[in-house]
Amino acid sequence: MQTPHIPVLLDEVLDSFSSVNGGYFVDCTLGYAGHSSEMLKKYDNIKHIGIDRDDEALNFSKKRLEPFEKRSRLYKGTFATVLPTLKETPITALLADFGVSSLQLDKKERGFSFTSETLDMRMDTTASLSAYEVVNHYSQEQLEYIFDIYGEVRPYRKLAAAVVEARAKKPIESAKALSQLAKVIIPSGGKIHPATLMFQAIRIEVNNELGEIEGLLDALEAKHYKNEVVSLITFHSLEDRLVKNRFKKWSNACICDPQAMRCTCGKGHDIGKALSKKPITASTEELKSNPRSRSAKLRSFKFKHSTREV
Ligand SMILES: C[S@@+](CC[C@H](N)C(=O)[O-])C[C@H]1O[C@@H](n2cnc3c(N)ncnc32)[C@H](O)[C@@H]1O
Repeated sequence: MQTPHIPVLLDEVLDSFSSVNGGYFVDCTLGYAGHSSEMLKKYDNIKHIGIDRDDEALNFSKKRLEPFEKRSRLYKGTFATVLPTLKETPITALLADFGVSSLQLDKKERGFSFTSETLDMRMDTTASLSAYEVVNHYSQEQLEYIFDIYGEVRPYRKLAAAVVEARAKKPIESAKALSQLAKVIIPSGGKIHPATLMFQAIRIEVNNELGEIEGLLDALEAKHYKNEVVSLITFHSLEDRLVKNRFKKWSNACICDPQAMRCTCGKGHDIGKALSKKPITASTEELKSNPRSRSAKLRSFKFKHSTREV
């Protein structure tokens, strides 16, 4: 089946689950089932749960996963809301490949690309907040905040002021118009389009992307299974920081204040350990064949066998 999305770090993801034996594998970001279909092929004793908030992705994957129909169930929704409601047990493996799919980026009508005639950027096209609302109705201060915090755009104040000035004349109706505006304010930096970080910031806001990652990590902290392996792929530093810090917290045996003179917590508070110290990144070969893998970082964590099973 022709797929609109090449899965990143595929071999590395499959390897991260090599200790898994039976149970449910949850793919929190099913997309076009690139990772899921290979997981189902390789590990024939696992059952599968696929979650996505995008109907187009779910419809495609439903077809792609037909050969595994008896072992697979799909859910529509955001992973932070669906995961805590799952009744299937035990979950032994969980994957999230954050961010947008190639199809979402490339399909003009979805409004993610610099040349789109629409201004949308919703992963779930039934959600109420779109990029149009953010760009045309957020206050200047709100725009400054998202450009600064979610995009780390240097001239974030100038950019927010330019958006507010432009929309006072007429609403900004397309991603194309918005990217042209960014070109005037942001100096072009080599290969990347000047509007890249601004678009990233708006996309994160529209889809509550960082809130979703926090929600997923909170859900795992509150409820996980013994020996469960969690593999998370991030694409920029804001995402990676959330994952790295949480894995660090989960691996810490001591929960005393770092300033404390001596340990009084009795240690033993670690709930598992990271499978590698450093994140895994794409090989030279993969970088050549799939440019999207350039910024991908895979971190895996294995919960302890003695972990509380809720
Ligand atoms: C990078 S793609 C995943 C591609 C997939 N691994 C594959 O091999 O085809 C990310 C997918 O996750 C979905 N997604 C992103 N954030 C989500 C969230 N918070 N809840 C549910 N789905 C989400 C997007 O709609 C998109 O389809």
